[in-house]
Amino acid sequence: MRKKIIAGNWKMNYTLTKAEDFVSEIKNSINTDEVDVVLCPNFVSLDRVSDLIEDTNIKLGAQNVYFEDKGAYTGETSVDMLVAANVKYCIVGHSERREYFKETNEDVNLKARKLLEKDIRPIVCVGETLEQRDAMKAFDVVEEQVRNSLKDISKDDIKDKVVIAYEPIWAIGTGVTATSEQAEEMCKFIREVVAKMYNEYIADFVRIQYGGSVKPSNASEILNMPNIDGALVGGASLTNDFAAIVNFD
Ligand code: PGA
Repeated sequence: MRKKIIAGNWKMNYTLTKAEDFVSEIKNSINTDEVDVVLCPNFVSLDRVSDLIEDTNIKLGAQNVYFEDKGAYTGETSVDMLVAANVKYCIVGHSERREYFKETNEDVNLKARKLLEKDIRPIVCVGETLEQRDAMKAFDVVEEQVRNSLKDISKDDIKDKVVIAYEPIWAIGTGVTATSEQAEEMCKFIREVVAKMYNEYIADFVRIQYGGSVKPSNASEILNMPNIDGALVGGASLTNDFAAIVNFD
């Protein structure tokens, strides 16, 4: 039985003080061990949020990382820096990073592998644009992203550590959610791709989240689908709605 994982991706929101206020306000209502709850604040707030959630089951996540160990990479953050800040999960390949910062599947793969070396669990994002879906290319695009982003990752790491987030780009921040059937169909397909890359036994362990306009009103329906093992939540993770999502029925 796969444990659900619900992660809040704050993106570029909340200054340090706002992050502190919000976590203090919400932490008791999202402190559960029935699902894995992950908060992904901006780098500047990681350390403070880590302190605030120390006495809870909530885990800390980052939104990005760089794949080099250290050196002259102005503006970048290494895996060791995340380890030192108590980060347990890290989002890689979010569609906003792919689009605005031109991240490729190869970058995503290097980042995921570097995180795994230091035992941070990557949340690897994949998902198609509306044009690709309309052109009936969604499955091909997602398969290519999954295959290339997870290239050369060991069986054990895939089975126990990697989380995949299916985030159709047309559903992110738009208020338009994929129907639970569309989300389930793609998450099931992703599991089949993982089974082809590794085997069915391993694919059965991999947690696959859905992300894209998840809110309290649609969370239960989505999260009760058989191949959807959690949610990556953007906008709704910035308010009390996140607690309602975490406490879905
Ligand atoms: P959204 O974002 O929930 O605001 O649609 C999801 C995401 O980008 O991870």
